[in-house]
Amino acid sequence: VASRSPTTSPPHPAAHTPADLARLARLIYPKVGSAAAVMNGRQHYRPYICPFDVLLDHVPAGSTVLDIGCGGGLWLRLLEATGRVRAGVGFDASAESIELARRSLPAGPPADLRFEHRRVEQPWPGPPEFAERFDVVSIIDVMHHVPPAAQRGLLTMAAGRVAAGGRLIYKDMAARPWWRGWANRLHDLAMVREWINYVDPAAIEHWASEAGLKLIHRSRHDRLWYGHDLLIFQRPANG
Ligand SMILES: C[S@@+](CC[C@H](N)C(=O)[O-])C[C@H]1O[C@@H](n2cnc3c(N)ncnc32)[C@H](O)[C@@H]1O
Repeated sequence: VASRSPTTSPPHPAAHTPADLARLARLIYPKVGSAAAVMNGRQHYRPYICPFDVLLDHVPAGSTVLDIGCGGGLWLRLLEATGRVRAGVGFDASAESIELARRSLPAGPPADLRFEHRRVEQPWPGPPEFAERFDVVSIIDVMHHVPPAAQRGLLTMAAGRVAAGGRLIYKDMAARPWWRGWANRLHDLAMVREWINYVDPAAIEHWASEAGLKLIHRSRHDRLWYGHDLLIFQRPANG
């Protein structure tokens, strides 16, 4: 951790290392000999790049969670594996990722997790589960992929889904220093052929505050050549 806001500190120390979470990811997405192998592989190494180990400690046990841009469902599945989620909904623009997320769900008694195929720009609220408010709403490494015209709307809609006393976990790739920002830009150009649009964390703070949320935690995490900005907001108990 390079810096931390003096206003708050995390609720308790990290209980899982990136290696622990990578091990869980290998169990959740077992090796398959098909086109899905590449996507599975991405879930396996992602805990070394994305500080899920830090994020986990900001999710109270037994939370309801809405994960926006959930990809292959890794975050919700890790929350489930570590006993933090009671019920969760994830959605993502990629049909392939949603298929992977659904396939990862265990056979037998269903985990109370649902994965939906939709874009953030599509109308909210949609089906009843999207009209609900959640204890935790997360936006992890999604904002820089969203068209600039839709970014403010995404943050505002996400904030609107946070229950009274609940949290919005916002994590995105850091644009600074310039070389870390460019390392990630080149990563996204190579991996998803996309010219990404970073949002200044100050704008996120401003939009969240306008939506009635209070900043309770801010930290910076560097993993390999990637930089990560983490902002956590809370809706007041009477909000
Ligand atoms: C870097 S991945 C992060 C996935 C997941 N949040 C995680 O941390 O593992 C970015 C995700 O955002 C999704 N995404 C990008 N633009 C989107 C949009 N407009 N609406 C919904 N999802 C979007 C992509 O399909 C992709 O799965």
